Order: sequence, then C-alpha cells, then structure tokens
Amino acid sequence: MASGRSNFAVMAVAVVMLSVFAVCRGDLEKGASYVFGDSLVDSGNNNYLQTLSKADTRPNGIDFKASGGAPTGRFTNGRTIADISGELLGQISYAPPFLAPNTSGSVLLNGVNYASGGGGILNGTGRLFVNRLGLDIQVDYFNQTRKQMDDLLGKAKAKQFLTKKSIFSITIGSNDFLNNYLLPVVSTGTRVAESPDNFIKDLIANLKIQLTRLYTLDARKFVVANVGPIGCIPYQKTINKVAENECVSLPNQLAKQYNGQLRELLAELNDNLPGAKFCLANVYDLVYELINNYEHYGFKTASHACCGNGGRYAGLIPCGPRTSMCEDRSNHVFWDPYHPSEAANLLLAKYIVDGDTKYVSPINLRKLLTL
Ligand SMILES: *[C@@H]1O[C@H](CO)[C@@H](O)[C@H](O)[C@H]1NC(C)=O
Ligand SMILES: *[C@@H]1O[C@H](CO)[C@@H](O)[C@H](O)[C@H]1NC(C)=O
Ligand SMILES: *[C@@H]1O[C@H](CO)[C@@H](O)[C@H](O)[C@H]1NC(C)=O
Repeated sequence: MASGRSNFAVMAVAVVMLSVFAVCRGDLEKGASYVFGDSLVDSGNNNYLQTLSKADTRPNGIDFKASGGAPTGRFTNGRTIADISGELLGQISYAPPFLAPNTSGSVLLNGVNYASGGGGILNGTGRLFVNRLGLDIQVDYFNQTRKQMDDLLGKAKAKQFLTKKSIFSITIGSNDFLNNYLLPVVSTGTRVAESPDNFIKDLIANLKIQLTRLYTLDARKFVVANVGPIGCIPYQKTINKVAENECVSLPNQLAKQYNGQLRELLAELNDNLPGAKFCLANVYDLVYELINNYEHYGFKTASHACCGNGGRYAGLIPCGPRTSMCEDRSNHVFWDPYHPSEAANLLLAKYIVDGDTKYVSPINLRKLLTL
C-alpha cells in the first residue's frame, strides 16, 4: 500500500515535471527579442531612473491595451516598433524593461528590453536628462542576463536558444545627433567643435565595439535600425520654423551620412563574424516614405504632433497631462514632438518583419528568425 502510494507520488512528480518542461520548451520555441536602444523602443526602463526623460504620465500609453491605457514608460500612445515586431513574430510577451524588479528568473527567456529614453551610442549623449542608459551600459546589463540564462537552461541550451531563437534589435543613434551634436548649448563642447566626419566615425567605432561584444555573448541574429529623418520631426520643424511640406536639412544630412557608414559596418560584420547575420532596418527611407505619402497611408498630418504644445506643429513641449492632444490619434504620423504614433509604428514594424530589401536587408526579420 505504502509503496503503491509512493509510486503514485513519483508518477505525479514526473507528470508535473514533464508538463513544466513542455511549457518551458513551448515558450523557447517561440523565440524572444533582446531590445537595445533609445526612447523609440524603451518599454519602461526610465521609470526606474532619476531622469528628465520620462513617459510615465498620461496621456502616454493611452492606446496601450495591456495596461488599459495607463502609461507604461513607452514614449508613444501605444506599442513601440519593438513590441509590434515581437507580436508579429509570435513571441509570447513584449520584452519587459530590464530595470523592472520582476524581470527576473524564467521571464528573461521571453526577451528583455534594455532601451532607455535619452540614451545614445556615446556615453555622453543625453547628459542633459541627468540619467539614461547608454549603449555600453545596456550591453553590460545584457551580460548579467546572459549569466542568468546559463543558470536557467544550462550552458548548451542557453547558447542554442540565443544563437537560434533570439533576435537582437538595436535602435539607437538619433540622440547622438539631436541631444548631443546638434545641441546649441556648449554642454558637450568637444563634440560641437568636432567635424561631422569625425563625430560619425566615433559613433560607428563604438557601435562596432558594442555589436561585437553582443556577438561574444552569443548574439547571432541582429537587426540594426538606421537613424530616421530627424529633420522632419515636429520638434525640429518647429524650432527651425520650416513649412508644412519641408524638413530641416542639416539633421537629415547628418543622418544620411551616418546611415551610409552604418550600412558599410554591417556588411563588414556580416563578412567577419562567422555565423552572425546583421540586418539593416532602413527606418530612414521608411519614415520618409510615410511622411512624403502620408495620405496614401491613411494619415491626415505628418508634421503636427498629436500630443504636445508650442509653435506651429505642437513641437516644443513634450506630451504630458497639461499639453493638448489631438482627437484622432490614428491619423497622426507623430505622437509627440519626437516620436511616431502607434499607427506609424504598426506600418514600420510590418515592413521590417515581412518587407523586402528596400526597407530591410539582406533579409527581413521573419526570414532571419528561421535561419
Ligand atoms: C511586473 O510587474 C508589473 C507591475 O509593476 C506588471 O504590470 C507586469 O505584468 C509584471 N510582469 C510579470 C512578468 O509578472
Ligand atoms: C563608456 O562607459 C563605460 C562604462 O560604463 C566604459 O567602460 C567605457 O570605456 C566608456 N567609453 C568611453 C569611450 O569613454
Ligand atoms: C561579461 O562579464 C564578465 C565578468 O562578469 C567579463 O569578464 C566579461 O568580459 C563580460 N563580457 C562582455 C562582453 O562585456
């Protein structure tokens, strides 16, 4: 009798263990995103920092269904490009912020977001916000996650999961121009004096170091976004007082120059890092296309911020409880003076996940994941 009961107990334990294993394996099969970058993809890290760069007040997040419209720290009205891309790829959850206390244990296997509003490729970028996570620190934090993944899965399985099932997305660089190089105040004097050529060389050199560090930590499937047409954001259009159908040329020129060198860097890394695939997400051309043909994509304006205040394009004061908000958020390309709306993010993510080589090359994210 006693032995019958213990056999039953052993069986029950075995069944429970099998089902835990199955759940775990099911999750792992769906893959995960490890997200690095700035406010374009921050899913809430800055909520945990003493910083002036925050999106933790209404009406930010008003269309984010999972929070019931409460702010999450995302700098948009709904989901970011990273959230939507993960969803389109069938991942089980949006990558949670690394700094959230409950982003721990097996949650790490569903992806992690290290991105931070105000962050840049250079350590000094975003200093005016007091605090933010730059790219170097984001990679340091991934190194911590990496160790925990070994503990969770064992070394061999962790490596297999990272190299086969994990996508590493990097969306960074805008702040290096907007909140560093182009700043009128001489808070970063050495940068302002530097030539664009040298500044861009510094950006590419550090980006190469950080991408290579991720590679040494077993990242293989990369998608790196180029810098968008930052001369077309409502903030730049407002302070430079350009017409509705115009953009500010210097920021766009700098972005294009950087993007050319980024393309070369990714080609070089594809040649030199065995087993790695670096995809370029051509956010510049994508956003430019949305802005140029906004009516074709169902938008009413590509120059006015939906949420913000100041000047002709509501482009001076960031979105918050006291700023005005447009009536129909889905017909604005821009949510606030700096960031695209969820409606725009949805289009961008679709092209990056399933689009052709005009917007994502050499292959799109869906193909990258099946490699
Ligand atoms: C972590 O906590 C936040 C609330 O602070 C909650 O919204 C989120 O769902 C939690 N995440 C997990 C994986 O439990
Ligand atoms: C940036 O900061 C990190 C520490 O977080 C440091 O290791 C690195 O050397 C710094 N890079 C530069 C170029 O100063
Ligand atoms: C990760 O952290 C360990 C120390 O814990 C260090 O030896 C290693 O160089 C780090 N790797 C990277 C790529 O930074």
